[in-house]
Parts: sequence; C-alpha cells; structure tokens
Amino acid sequence: MAPTMHRVIFLGPPGVGKGTQAASLSKELGVPHLSTGDLLRVAVAARTPLGLEAQGHMDAGRLVPDDLVLRILRDRLAAPDAAVGFLLDGFPRNLAQAQRLEEISPVESVLSFELPAHLLIERLSGRRVCPKCLTVYNIATRPPKSPGRCDLDGAELIQRPDDQPAAITTRLAVYAEQTAPLLGYYRRKGLLQTVDAHGSPNEVAGRVRTALR
Ligand code: AP5
Repeated sequence: MAPTMHRVIFLGPPGVGKGTQAASLSKELGVPHLSTGDLLRVAVAARTPLGLEAQGHMDAGRLVPDDLVLRILRDRLAAPDAAVGFLLDGFPRNLAQAQRLEEISPVESVLSFELPAHLLIERLSGRRVCPKCLTVYNIATRPPKSPGRCDLDGAELIQRPDDQPAAITTRLAVYAEQTAPLLGYYRRKGLLQTVDAHGSPNEVAGRVRTALR
C-alpha cells in the first residue's frame, strides 16, 4: 500500500504560532517542517549571497522577492525527506507564490490560524530564539529553564530583529495586503480550514489534529 502523503500549508499572520505547531506536528506525521523564514535566516547567518540580499527585507518586515524565496524552497523540496510530504510554514505569502507552488507540487490541506492583532503583538514581543538550534521560546508562555539560555545547547537567546515594534507593524500590514488574499484562493479550491489559535500550544494542537483528521 502506498504511504499516506501529507502535503500541508500553514497560513496565518506573524506570531500566530505556525512554527510552534509545525515543529511538533511534523515529527508526528513524519514529514519535514519547511519554514521559509528559517531557511532564509540560515542563509543570512551563513552570509551567502542570497542571505545578504534577503537580510534588509527581512529585518524591515517586508517580503523577500519571490525569485529568492522560490530558489531556496525549490532546493529544499528536492531533498529526499520531502518526497513523503511536507509541512509548509510561511510559504506561500502571495498569489504569485501560490501559483508557482502549484507548478512544483500539489497540496492536500491548508490550515489558516487566526488570532486578534493585540495577542499577535504580545506573542511576538515575548519571543526569544536560539541562534544555534532555532528553538523558539517565549518569556511569558514558554520561558527557558535558565533565563536567556537555550535549554538544549546553552546558547544565548536572541530577539529576532523583525520582532522590534516597527517591523512588527510592517509585517502585520504586509500580511493583510499580500497574504490574506490567499484565504479566498484556497477556500475556492476547497482546501482551506481555519484554526482558532487562542489558548495554550496543546489546545491549539488538538484543533490542528481535528482539522487534519
Ligand atoms: P517567518 O519566519 O515566516 O515569520 P512569520 O510568518 O512572520 O511568522 P513568525 O515566525 O513570526 O510566527 P509564527 O506564526 O511561526 O509563530 P511562533 O510559533 O514562532 O518570516 C520572517 C520573514 O522572512 C518575513 O517577514 C519575510 O521577510 C521573510 N519570508 C519568509 N517566508 C517568505 C516568503 N514565502 N516570501 C517572502 N518572504 C518571506 O510563535 C510566536 C511566539 O508565540 C513564540 O514565542 C511562541 O513560543 C509563542 N506561542 C506560540 N504558540 C503559542 C500559544 N498557543 N500560546 C502562547 N504563546 C504561543
């Protein structure tokens, strides 16, 4: 019998918890968690030509040009572990990207996470990340065991440059203008389900599993 394919897109505004949910669900489904934001941040940290071109856009909270993101995503989707499916987090971000994805791979489900803006801002402002292993913390809801240090490798936690107030404002506006139209696009295709992102990560995870069942 052919294995079940899980090709899932997580849509939603910055800070809604896409990455947190994708990290645990990808292990459960046995498919890779493909975050274009993480792939870009790795390229920025490695100072590759693509990373250097992307950095200014990211720090300001703007979208990185489509051709750069598609290049990085195409390479990642070609890796052997993505042959069994994937959980896409942060891609597509506009209609052009959605159309390009269709040329690369079909998807079975699109989950859209929803939360009011004031709670998004609260989650983003409290986020801290490990620059080494990319584990995500929150000073209010998921603090590390020793303040300011990653539980897994002891590295000093950082605040993402785009989690500063001005960049957060830009990211929320960019989501409303460029990414929110994808909700109608996937609804018309019969693929979209919405997930209420209020509550603890475990409560949200329960809703995600129900939606994907
Ligand atoms: P990206 O990294 O994709 O950022 P984003 O979409 O803005 O999403 P976030 O990572 O901010 O939030 P999240 O929803 O994953 O929340 P998280 O789980 O971390 O993109 C960054 C930039 O890269 C873009 O601005 C752009 O420049 C570029 N880029 C990326 N993809 C691109 C593309 N396709 N095209 C063009 N440019 C692209 O949670 C947030 C915080 O809340 C954490 O602290 C977490 O611990 C906490 N939290 C999570 N869940 C809960 C909960 N249930 N209760 C309480 N706290 C919670």
